[in-house]
Amino acid sequence: MPDALALLKTRRSFKPVELSAPGPSTAEIDTLLTVASRVPDHGKLAPWRFIVFEGEARRAAGEAIAAAFRAKYPDAKPEHVEAERERLARAPLVIAVVSRAAPHVKIPEWEQVLSAGAAAMNLVLAAHALGYGATWITEWYAYDRAVLDALGLRPHEKIAGFVHIGRPPGVPEDRPRPALSEIATRFHG
Ligand SMILES: Cc1cc2nc3c(=O)[nH]c(=O)nc-3n(C[C@H](O)[C@H](O)[C@H](O)COP(=O)(O)O)c2cc1C
Repeated sequence: MPDALALLKTRRSFKPVELSAPGPSTAEIDTLLTVASRVPDHGKLAPWRFIVFEGEARRAAGEAIAAAFRAKYPDAKPEHVEAERERLARAPLVIAVVSRAAPHVKIPEWEQVLSAGAAAMNLVLAAHALGYGATWITEWYAYDRAVLDALGLRPHEKIAGFVHIGRPPGVPEDRPRPALSEIATRFHG
């Protein structure tokens, strides 16, 4: 378990299929959700919520994904539909971060959306701090209305991410990161 700065400097995403069982325990999931909900939140609106997918519930959600896929591609091969059914079953645990951002008299919706991003990132980092690997993805079904309805999202809610969590396969190689000289400037007035 790396210290905080080492964790921040070395964190990497994994492919969902690389994240193996056993996933976090119930107590660890509580820790993940507690950390995920401890983020800056202008107006204290809690403009996000979480949906936990574990065990067979991952395949129940996968049924909705497969059905939406079949509706889009009626001629899809059975193995492709089957792969869609397994979407949320690749890792032992998936937590959806749902943005509940909505118009508000004082707090811009943009700031509420940013807070959901912070919640997703805190969730990823908390998983790593517990010794798991995590990957923040959306994929096509995060934008499919039939899937969102089946998962219980209200019309104004959006998926910020499906965070996949499980045992990491090992120490990953890093990928190139942007040079600081290209993304940071000093303001000189
Ligand atoms: C909102 C959001 C959605 C993402 N969706 C996907 C996705 O659907 N598929 C994917 O391969 N990566 C997706 N990513 C990127 C991965 O989370 C990750 O950043 C990328 O694989 C690079 O790995 P790294 O985190 O180790 O730098 C998404 C990232 C964000 C912030």
